[in-house]
Amino acid sequence: MSEMPALTKMTSFSGCGAKLGPGLLEKALCGLSQPAYPDMLVSFEGCEDAGLYRAGPGLALVQTVDFFPPIVDDPFLFGRISAANALSDVYAMGGRPVTALALVCFPASSLGLESLRAMMEGGLDALVEAGCALLGGHSIEDAEPKLGYAVTGFVDPDRAWRNNSLEPGLGLILTKPLGTGLVNVAFRAGCASEEAVEAAQTSMARLNKKAAEILSSYSVRACTDVTGFGLAGHAAEMADGVSCGLRIFGGELPLLPGAAEYAAKGLVPGGTGRNKEGRLRALPRASEIAPELLDILFDPQTSGGLLAAVPRSLAHDALSALRGAGVDAGIVGESGGPPGQVDIVI
Ligand code: CO
Ligand code: CO
Repeated sequence: MSEMPALTKMTSFSGCGAKLGPGLLEKALCGLSQPAYPDMLVSFEGCEDAGLYRAGPGLALVQTVDFFPPIVDDPFLFGRISAANALSDVYAMGGRPVTALALVCFPASSLGLESLRAMMEGGLDALVEAGCALLGGHSIEDAEPKLGYAVTGFVDPDRAWRNNSLEPGLGLILTKPLGTGLVNVAFRAGCASEEAVEAAQTSMARLNKKAAEILSSYSVRACTDVTGFGLAGHAAEMADGVSCGLRIFGGELPLLPGAAEYAAKGLVPGGTGRNKEGRLRALPRASEIAPELLDILFDPQTSGGLLAAVPRSLAHDALSALRGAGVDAGIVGESGGPPGQVDIVI
């Protein structure tokens, strides 16, 4: 097989292809309305990971879509990460992914058929592992490659995990280490260690399937997945509009190798600043937090872990079960404190 061009060389990293900050899309959607369809259970209003639509008694569709430009050079790995990331929002709602459609943007004139095929192979590899059927998709010519999937799953709507159902007395479990954004910036700057890159890529390519299956035995009361807004951003969404807030144990966060070092060196993605702008006000003692820790807390994650709240009495058992199954999980906080607040406990 001939040498394939490095995918990230096609990416400008000028901000094109980056996720819009949390404020902008909210403003654009503000005031837009649609009929209150009787079977529409969760739509774009609110901060859920996916939409929910009743399909029959005890059955709802969970629907989500995600796509982005390459964050790794290997096209197979990029496909795998993209599909793992898209599937994750279904797992975050306690759903079982069943079908997917591919969204492909591709510069056919500068990247060859082999790269495209490898991207699609990587995506399919993750979908097959998920037991999720690829039904089709749509592709367009674009200067910068992008790949993603619209994923549909099934869930019992009465048992779906929501992210706005926090209550006191819960322990907070995160199922992947933090720092994919920091490692990615260090990698682009040419100063990431091989160990850091390897660990970040392995973590991003991993499905949240097993973590979700295990957590389903431990009375999950609220759940989301940690992606573009970072741990603190997604935690702030969980704590918003519910009866209590969250405490995050700042000294006990599971980190990818190198992540703390790169944060200390200021190798921070642009998205971190946008995340802080949107959500820093949810952190009551933000000014007392070391800047490196803030940059970890708001580091945008690609294909990050599930952030699940389970009864505190079950949290350690859940953690042992997850770790026993090879899931790199940690207990990162607990529910409590004033509603809307994410207190970082050092
Ligand atoms: Co999500
Ligand atoms: Co998403």
